Amino acid sequence: MGRNFFKFGAVSMALGLAVVLAAGFGGLSSNLNPLSITPAQAHGDVAPQPVDTTGIDPLGKEWKATNPYRGKDNKNFKKAVEIGAGGYNQNCARCHGLEAKSGGLAPDLRFLETDEDGDEWYVMRVREGMTQNGITKMPKFEGILSQEALWAIRTYIDSLPEDD
Ligand code: HEC
Repeated sequence: MGRNFFKFGAVSMALGLAVVLAAGFGGLSSNLNPLSITPAQAHGDVAPQPVDTTGIDPLGKEWKATNPYRGKDNKNFKKAVEIGAGGYNQNCARCHGLEAKSGGLAPDLRFLETDEDGDEWYVMRVREGMTQNGITKMPKFEGILSQEALWAIRTYIDSLPEDD
């Protein structure tokens, strides 16, 4: 009896902790449904990871329409690719695959157009995420990752070869 009670207590404590974690996470962004990401969090590496964007130009509040770090001549380019690689691996790779080679869970991002249309589509998706029939297929990153981090990730993805 005492033993069972102890077991039950441990389980409910663990559940309580999970709820607190999920609630804390959801608090970062009111529209993000914490329940939809909780199962994946069990794998350990999936809570959104902050991205340190020191070394690339700050962009302010207003979202840019096009990638401000694009192009090898851009003074931010090299650093943006480096920052974007880390940001991508920690926040996107679990769904979109390492080096953006999709394992089938989510679209292969290497094929996104690298022009302004591609930028527009990219920004819309990463800011809003994607929810279908009440299920969050992709979490929104607005308010979770900075504009600088998200453009750095875009720069990294653009720098990848489309084939191999
Ligand atoms: C939980 C899984 C998941 C995570 C994490 C995730 N995505 Fe997605 N992403 C998806 C799915 C699923 C779609 C397809 C949505 C649809 O049906 O339009 C998608 C679509 C996209 C698209 C549109 C692609 C296209 O071809 O239409 C972009 C761009 C994108 N994601 C970027 C990102 C970036 C950048 C990150 C990391 C900051 C990220 N995603 C993290 C699951 C995820």
